[in-house]
Amino acid sequence: MIEIYDARISGTGKYVPKEVLNNYDLEKRLDTTDEWIRTRTGMSERRIAAKNEASSDLAYEAAKKAIEAAGLKPRDIDMIIVGTISPDHFFPSTACILQKKLGVKTCPAFDLSAGCTGFIYAASIGQQFVVTGKAKNVLVVGVEILSRITNWEDRNTAVLFGDGAGAVVISRTEPTSVSRIVDFDLSADGTFGELLIMPAGGSRMPACVQSVKENKHTLYMEGNKIFKLAVRSMQESAEKLLQRNRLDVKSINWLITHQANYRIIETLGKKLNIDMDKVIVTIEKYANTSSSTVPIALDESVRSGKIRRGDIVLLVAFGAGLTSGGMLFRY
Ligand code: ACO
Repeated sequence: MIEIYDARISGTGKYVPKEVLNNYDLEKRLDTTDEWIRTRTGMSERRIAAKNEASSDLAYEAAKKAIEAAGLKPRDIDMIIVGTISPDHFFPSTACILQKKLGVKTCPAFDLSAGCTGFIYAASIGQQFVVTGKAKNVLVVGVEILSRITNWEDRNTAVLFGDGAGAVVISRTEPTSVSRIVDFDLSADGTFGELLIMPAGGSRMPACVQSVKENKHTLYMEGNKIFKLAVRSMQESAEKLLQRNRLDVKSINWLITHQANYRIIETLGKKLNIDMDKVIVTIEKYANTSSSTVPIALDESVRSGKIRRGDIVLLVAFGAGLTSGGMLFRY
């Protein structure tokens, strides 16, 4: 018989590389301006990983902080899930490399590919293992080094992305605990897969001289089309979670959305009728770091004292796939 437990976020952490690339730096490399980037996206700067840093290195730094914040040691972790579209390698998984770095032996560890919704997808799986009693403390990481899969000659995409990692520990908690994960909503629509894609490097188009010459190992995006889908899918997830849990939008203390474009965040805020003071925005500093935008924003808000124990927090994201989803919890 399976016993059901409650789960909560017991700790958060983040790591961003030291190198800052600002809009003025990009002006020197591309036919773009600080003004265009700021007004069209809300971004001012982004972090770029050092040459010797891979995704697992960023993940390791964020994970250590999350585990410490949870009051745990790495040996207490009994599952590791990493959401990423820029892993160290195709295989072994970044989660297994992270497991080795943390010195955690034998616990299951795997990567999950759901684009920018990767963290929410990964957290939903972690929560299921805790709720069903199969794990007590699951480490969930969103990490990306998008600078390695960016076409630095394409102004349509080069200005939008950055590198970073965010992590949480999801732990079993008492039924009486105020802090708890309440609900998830996950969705995908593969018919829009071509809108955001890295064409080469997989079995469809293996790496060859031609694929490298044609820049097929970098990210392609139809930004205009994604914009509308992003707003619609995040709105749907947010509304489903609110309705299903009989919550009015006014009872939400904080909304954290995927940080892809400030205009998307603002439009969503208006559609949900939520005060922008309750919407966490980090896009100016870090740009779009795909699966790590949400856990980075969460960690910053927790550490700055904005999000407090007991607050109701709604996370929503969308990304390559196209995937989308949301997570509702009391911190
Ligand atoms: N600098 C200057 N001009 C530029 C730049 C740039 N960096 N990039 C594009 N332009 C130009 C275009 O060439 C175009 O010029 P034209 O009118 O002469 O053809 C003009 O600006 C307008 O281009 P649009 O694409 O219509 O600009 P838009 O206002 O839609 O902004 C953007 C583009 C920022 C990409 C926006 O559509 C967007 O944010 N979309 C959503 C993207 C997104 O969410 N991506 C994340 C998905 S998942 C993930 O995170 C991995």
